[in-house]
Amino acid sequence: MANDTSAVSDAASHHSLSDPFTPPADSSLWRKNFLLGAATASYQIEGAVNEDGRLPSIWDTFSATPGKVLAGDTGAVACDHYHRWEADVDMLAGLGLEGYRLSIAWPRVMDAAGAPNRKGLDFYKRLLNRLKEKDVTTFVTLYHWDLPQHLEDRGGWLNRDTAHRFADYADLMSRELAGTVDAWATLNEPWCSAYLGYGNGHHAPGLANERFATQAMHHLLLAHGLALPVLRGNDPASQKGIVANIGRGTANTDSAADRRAAHLFEVQHNAWILDPLLKGAYPQDLFELWPGTEPLVLDGDMQTISVPMDFLGINYYFRTNVASDGAHGFRDVPLEGVERTQMGWEVYPDGLRDLLIGFKGTYRNLPPIYITENGMASDDKVIDGRVDDTQRISFLKRHLAAVDGAIKAGVDIRGYFLWSLMDNFEWAFGYERRFGVVHVDYGTQKRTVKRSAELVAKFLKERKARV
Ligand code: FCB
Repeated sequence: MANDTSAVSDAASHHSLSDPFTPPADSSLWRKNFLLGAATASYQIEGAVNEDGRLPSIWDTFSATPGKVLAGDTGAVACDHYHRWEADVDMLAGLGLEGYRLSIAWPRVMDAAGAPNRKGLDFYKRLLNRLKEKDVTTFVTLYHWDLPQHLEDRGGWLNRDTAHRFADYADLMSRELAGTVDAWATLNEPWCSAYLGYGNGHHAPGLANERFATQAMHHLLLAHGLALPVLRGNDPASQKGIVANIGRGTANTDSAADRRAAHLFEVQHNAWILDPLLKGAYPQDLFELWPGTEPLVLDGDMQTISVPMDFLGINYYFRTNVASDGAHGFRDVPLEGVERTQMGWEVYPDGLRDLLIGFKGTYRNLPPIYITENGMASDDKVIDGRVDDTQRISFLKRHLAAVDGAIKAGVDIRGYFLWSLMDNFEWAFGYERRFGVVHVDYGTQKRTVKRSAELVAKFLKERKARV
């Protein structure tokens, strides 16, 4: 069976710490209460887009639009997880992964009038119940970008009403699923929804206007702030938070202009989201970068948005080296001779450590952190039944060392989720970019555990066996 790792793990465990992944003996990763898991998202893995009453989402529309997604790929079949979820859960649990972060497809569970779709809901109930039976800690994201198309038709995140519809959706989900969810995240990466979706058009719904981006962000954050107390009321025992992607910007030279450019990069990528959540105000420097784009904010909104959270999810992938654009912004200056992934993203673990330590200094009320995504794409091939993803093994080891460094510097980090459990639909890049620790053959849907996952499993097994 493709997901049988026991033989490999047993053989490898005799070599104890000598493999290319296992953290050093003094790493905080050895703490048994440091949660190590894997993440996925509904549209990227489920497929079954027309089944059991699921409505279209903005990603169905966007990926069906010629020229928007590499090779014309769509999530119509993806990893066929909607039908293969039982084997996928067995695979996850078989690897010893302790946590699973998944997302719910909003258009699967509610109709256009806001009534529940029982068939869609039952899918998530079965899935979450099985995960609990397997003793897997469940992190559920309510919104990982698949907005129902009928809401986009009424303005999507540019329409303030969408925030209220989101709170209704959070209400339904937390009433139905309470008891099976250990941690709820309202949104995944509002930066991507707002900026890539409405600011530069790289993602669905494909609009490109900075004023739209700031207004969409405001409504996304408002949706989060409205939903959080609803989740608390319906499911008091669980943790509640949000997931933000963060970006490291470094200055190309030591000139004041380039240092300012790097600062503005981080304002745009980090403070735009974290300041309203943790300080109750937008960073004014954002409007130096994008003059005249202040969103319409109503009385009380910022208090709603800055409601206290139990955790902050952080997704980190790479850094961007920038210089001044000569006006009020920044431009990318890609560095030569640095290590990059299949995405072209620079491998830069220090960025993760430095940002986390920086946030602890900036935000007095920084909640406990989970790294909710980290990983890389490589052009992985199955050769003689095996996938030797050497670069990923080294990438993960170095990023986990960065997490350990931040913990040792005093940041409260409680867990880490690999992106991703398996290769999947990588948004505008389709199926070409493989982020999984498990390989998926899209022709046959066969899963093959990559070497990276074997080594993670080996480490988890050793950690579990420790007294
Ligand atoms: C993040 C997304 C996730 C995945 C990774 C590579 O921005 O949250 O769905 O696409 O990037």
